[in-house]
Amino acid sequence: MSSIAVLGCMWGDEAKAKIVDFLGDQADVVIRFQGGSNAGHTIYLNESKYVFHSVPSGILYPQTMCVIGSGVVVDPASILEEISLLQAQGISFENRLFIDERAGVVLPLHRILDNRNEAGATKIGTTKRGIGPAYTDITARIGIRLIDLAYPEWLSQRLVNLYARHQVELAEQELANQLKDLEGFWQQLKPYVCQTDLLLYKLYHEGKNLLFEGAQGTLLDICYGTYPFVTSSHTMAGGISTGAGVPLRFTDKIIGVYKAYCTRVGDGPFPTELLCETGNRIRQQGNEYGSTTGRPRRVGWFDAVAAKYSARINGIDRMALTLLDVLSGIEKLKICTGYWHQGVRLEGFPTHHLLLEEVQVEYLELDGWDNDLGGIKTLSKLPKAAKEYLDAIQDCLEVPIELVSVGKERSQTIVIKN
Ligand code: IMO
Ligand code: MG
Repeated sequence: MSSIAVLGCMWGDEAKAKIVDFLGDQADVVIRFQGGSNAGHTIYLNESKYVFHSVPSGILYPQTMCVIGSGVVVDPASILEEISLLQAQGISFENRLFIDERAGVVLPLHRILDNRNEAGATKIGTTKRGIGPAYTDITARIGIRLIDLAYPEWLSQRLVNLYARHQVELAEQELANQLKDLEGFWQQLKPYVCQTDLLLYKLYHEGKNLLFEGAQGTLLDICYGTYPFVTSSHTMAGGISTGAGVPLRFTDKIIGVYKAYCTRVGDGPFPTELLCETGNRIRQQGNEYGSTTGRPRRVGWFDAVAAKYSARINGIDRMALTLLDVLSGIEKLKICTGYWHQGVRLEGFPTHHLLLEEVQVEYLELDGWDNDLGGIKTLSKLPKAAKEYLDAIQDCLEVPIELVSVGKERSQTIVIKN
């Protein structure tokens, strides 16, 4: 293997972590380059469940190094809690976790602001983890970065300025409490903090295999997603270089992760959404409830127009198609092959959400299958209808499928050589 990226290519929750975990034995380093504790990455291994929000999923492999790049926003309280939960599950972090000192810090203020934004007309259905406001402050050059925690006086002044800028009251006692908390967090985080761009440079030149683990998905990208119903980072491949501080050429292969159907959590346009019994059934069969917020996910048919757009802007080399097993027992399956608006078939993926909300969807209908796919290990053993479903998706995207996931466990993954 060389260095690869595993990216969610729809609205998040594509089971990226399952794919990262499957490929993880070939990786020496797993790197998160954007997002924060809004991510919810779940891995099932030997009947145990592990949930990751900020820590890269590669931490499950004892020999693998894990890096959190500068493009991630770190909530100190939340990441320390995550680390201690994983430690209680037997995972060691010593000399294995490295966090970039430039990473933005998510403060209690950011959750206040996120909740405030979500309470009014600007609501978009965020995870309320303070992610958007934390990125906003970094971009506005008033944010606090991890390295600032090493400079208490400067930090104190920055906090005062930040609260003033947001017109949120900060009483003296509250300031003292926050500084004390941050000092405590810093003492615990300090051993992990360094310049991870330099570390990655050295590892790459030692011939180590890097694996970049995306969070969220392309249609939630701050620019190329369904704005304004997006997250606040660059979730697409372009975010790797800026979010990890590595040259573009460090990524040799990009694997796009797609679900066999679509889901979205939070508000925003969703052309293939199923507001009917079939949607409920897929939600139940796929256990489509958010791992960060517990919210029921909206469910819809596979949208090949949106999928093709994300494949193009990421430069996807291969697809990983997940949760195929969930579709068993559904008599007829549909794939969206085109968008129409006022009698015209649209070219590409609309920019404005108001247009996207109005499109009529053209579908290809295929037969479903009844068989339980969970035990199938090779492509040839899949039911004919399932193979036809995969072929139809490949044909629409013009990208080969390399991995098909038919269950939660690492072993429930079909590899397609091509
Ligand atoms: P993983 O990595 C699915 C969605 C939220 C909301 C929008 C903005 O598990 O795939 P934010 O809190 O980021 O400001 O919310 O983005 N969202 C996700 N949806 N999976 C995720 O992460 C998500 N992270 C954020 O629901 O619509
Ligand atoms: Mg998730």
